[in-house]
Amino acid sequence: MTLILLLLFCSVSSPVRHSLINYFTGSAGAPNVTQFVGVAVVDGVEAVYCDSSNKILEPRQDWVKKVFDNDSQLLEWYKHECFNIQPSAFRARIISLKQQFNQSEGFHILQTRSGCEWEENTGEKSGFLKYGYDGEDFLELDLNTLSWASLKPEAEATKRSWDADRNRTKLNEVFLTDICPERLKSFLDCGNSSLQRTVPPSVSLLQKTPSSPVSCHATGFYPDRAVMFWRKDGEKVHEGVEIGDILPNDDGTFQMSVNLNVSSFTPEECSRFDCVFQFSDVEKIIVTKLNKTLIRTNWKEKMTKEKSSNRAITVIVVLLVFILVAVAGFAFYKKKKEKHFTPSAVNICELSEGKNEVTT
Ligand SMILES: *[C@@H]1O[C@H](CO)[C@@H](O)[C@H](O)[C@H]1NC(C)=O
Ligand SMILES: *[C@@H]1O[C@H](CO)[C@@H](O)[C@H](O)[C@H]1NC(C)=O
Ligand SMILES: *[C@@H]1O[C@H](CO)[C@@H](O)[C@H](O)[C@H]1NC(C)=O
Ligand SMILES: *[C@@H]1O[C@H](CO)[C@@H](O)[C@H](O)[C@H]1NC(C)=O
Ligand SMILES: *[C@@H]1O[C@H](CO)[C@@H](O)[C@H](O)[C@H]1NC(C)=O
Ligand SMILES: *[C@@H]1O[C@H](CO)[C@@H](O)[C@H](O)[C@H]1NC(C)=O
Ligand SMILES: *[C@@H]1O[C@H](CO)[C@@H](O)[C@H](O)[C@H]1NC(C)=O
Repeated sequence: MTLILLLLFCSVSSPVRHSLINYFTGSAGAPNVTQFVGVAVVDGVEAVYCDSSNKILEPRQDWVKKVFDNDSQLLEWYKHECFNIQPSAFRARIISLKQQFNQSEGFHILQTRSGCEWEENTGEKSGFLKYGYDGEDFLELDLNTLSWASLKPEAEATKRSWDADRNRTKLNEVFLTDICPERLKSFLDCGNSSLQRTVPPSVSLLQKTPSSPVSCHATGFYPDRAVMFWRKDGEKVHEGVEIGDILPNDDGTFQMSVNLNVSSFTPEECSRFDCVFQFSDVEKIIVTKLNKTLIRTNWKEKMTKEKSSNRAITVIVVLLVFILVAVAGFAFYKKKKEKHFTPSAVNICELSEGKNEVTT
């Protein structure tokens, strides 16, 4: 009876789909607010960050640095786009949109999501470019018809004026269908092995207090395409289960947890549960059996601390009581103290040592 970690490495050949997505945000109206920020994301990982107001252009991965070291023109292209071309284009568009909507005052924000996807096995490519204004979808470029599609009625006027600018649409097409996929491939030349790596998590069982749910916590994993769930006798359970979000760690790996309400379980029932971690596109699973002796908790320490500080208080109280009321008072406080240490709810899945401590 031990904590069982099953690592099953059964790679399935899945289509390898890659993407390069640029997120640009331009804002106007508020003083001291960054006016243009851009991020380039490769296969879901932040690759380049730029902030035009503070003249920052940063490769965010070692493999991006390698690409820039090899091809200094690419670095210059990013700097020029980020510090000059895009900020002035965004500024001009925000001014024109404000006029169109009769907005003289206030803070306005224009965003784009643009990029391309490349399916490695079939060679299939696709591009996209979408604008959002003040947080709402606004216009989208249709690469088949080379025209803009309005995503809300208010965007119609802008659509008509942007459709008239054929040169700009043509430039967008060339960028999205030719330049972007080539750039994506050069990023993958250096970054693919890092982007395609899988790092399994370390999994632990945590419980705050004896009546809290047991948390199955996985950390240090990569990529973030993963699921976690609890099973009973091998069947996925939904009741009493709370699934947390996938959160980034500082080192580029991820963490998540899934909680299970164990308050009504008998010890026999507990042993029928296990927690499963699985990467979405690999058939690699990590199974952690719900074993009460392996649950990490700090409630025992807390109780010990509480107990000693309560002891100190008790000593003082006992002295006072002894002076003021004599022996009868001692019995009263002793009783009170004992009552204080009886947990309101005793959990079946708690640490056995913890239980002993309560009863001694
Ligand atoms: C729980 O883990 C402990 C320590 O590894 C082990 O001795 C015990 O047999 C395990 N219990 C179960 C139910 O797996
Ligand atoms: C903007 O920044 C300048 C200089 O850093 C500062 O003096 C000013 O108070 C700031 N204004 C606002 C509205 O924060
Ligand atoms: C290095 O840069 C040259 C152009 O300067 C380019 O043709 C080549 O593909 C680059 N190699 C890598 C690995 O990015
Ligand atoms: C903006 O103001 C003009 C003139 O006052 C008006 O004709 C137009 O309908 C307004 N546009 C919007 C979007 O409110
Ligand atoms: C569009 O491009 C053509 C050829 O490159 C050029 O002659 C024309 O002046 C451009 N039109 C605009 C509005 O920029
Ligand atoms: C990236 O790595 C994966 C897995 O290692 C491999 O299957 C794929 O062919 C590689 N793609 C490129 C573009 O290097
Ligand atoms: C856990 O389940 C018990 C009974 O099934 C319920 O009373 C309790 O509220 C639940 N606790 C949480 C945190 O959901």
